[in-house]
Amino acid sequence: MSYKQKKVTQNSFSLLAPAKLNLFLHITGRRDDGYHLLQSMMVFVDVGDELRFAPYDGLFIDIDGEFSTDLATPHDNLVYRAALLLGEEYNIKPHGAISLRKNLPIASGIGGGSSDAAATLLGLVKLWGLPDEPARLHRVAQKLGADVPACLMRKPVWAEGIGEKVTTLPDMPGMHFVLLNPMTPTPTPHVFKRFRERHSAPLQFTGRRKTIQEWIADLKIYRNDLTDAANELSPLIKPALQSIAETPNCHFARLSGSGATCFGLYDHADAARAAANKLRQKHPNWWVAQATLLK
Ligand code: C5P
Repeated sequence: MSYKQKKVTQNSFSLLAPAKLNLFLHITGRRDDGYHLLQSMMVFVDVGDELRFAPYDGLFIDIDGEFSTDLATPHDNLVYRAALLLGEEYNIKPHGAISLRKNLPIASGIGGGSSDAAATLLGLVKLWGLPDEPARLHRVAQKLGADVPACLMRKPVWAEGIGEKVTTLPDMPGMHFVLLNPMTPTPTPHVFKRFRERHSAPLQFTGRRKTIQEWIADLKIYRNDLTDAANELSPLIKPALQSIAETPNCHFARLSGSGATCFGLYDHADAARAAANKLRQKHPNWWVAQATLLK
């Protein structure tokens, strides 16, 4: 039987690889190996890439979707690396048919690749019938990238270390967003290279439950310390932030991760939808999405 014939089976299932937003991102230091120490509140939203898993004897990965052509070959991405690493960890020959629908722009600060890698680990744990071992999976995730452990959580987290030390934030209030990307890839290593080592003082994280008003008041005074470095690389970031900030009912506009995706925060879905429509009209060639917090 050919792969295509086998592809649609009753045992296949899908997983969303949700986009990640850094509601703030403070760089607090640098390790001897060059990696930066940070503090960030990372959240996930209901837009993302989609992965479909089906049983298959070999390892087969195919990619489609709006941004699939921006990726190198299927075997040169984090989905493939995640499958190999998980196979190594459990001493299993990596197998399965994985279809990745790439809906998120690449190298865009919203964790597309990291979230794909995390969803691959979660999907293959299910497909291969592996035990539920979160600490072991976290260790594998860490080898794939600093953000990948957080992407396994798919819930609001407080992140420290180089991003890998994550604490879940329960009881987050509902939040709505608009995402705007001026379609200029900003690879993370290039942004960190331009970052001038001015470090933020570490915040004391208490984990205390806060109302939406308290969160917004806090978040407004926090920053994304990579904004200037990212804007040097992609000078459309500042105009994008300005466009979002001008939409009605926007609490604040900020860069996510190393960019170039920027986001605005709103109380209500209606306000985020209206903002998305406005931004689509104003920037017809940019990527715009409306999104809701995953809790
Ligand atoms: O871990 P990841 O592959 O996402 O990181 C890409 C690059 O970003 C690293 O090679 C490093 O140059 C930079 N980085 C950093 N500090 C972090 C995360 C990433 O300097 N906390």
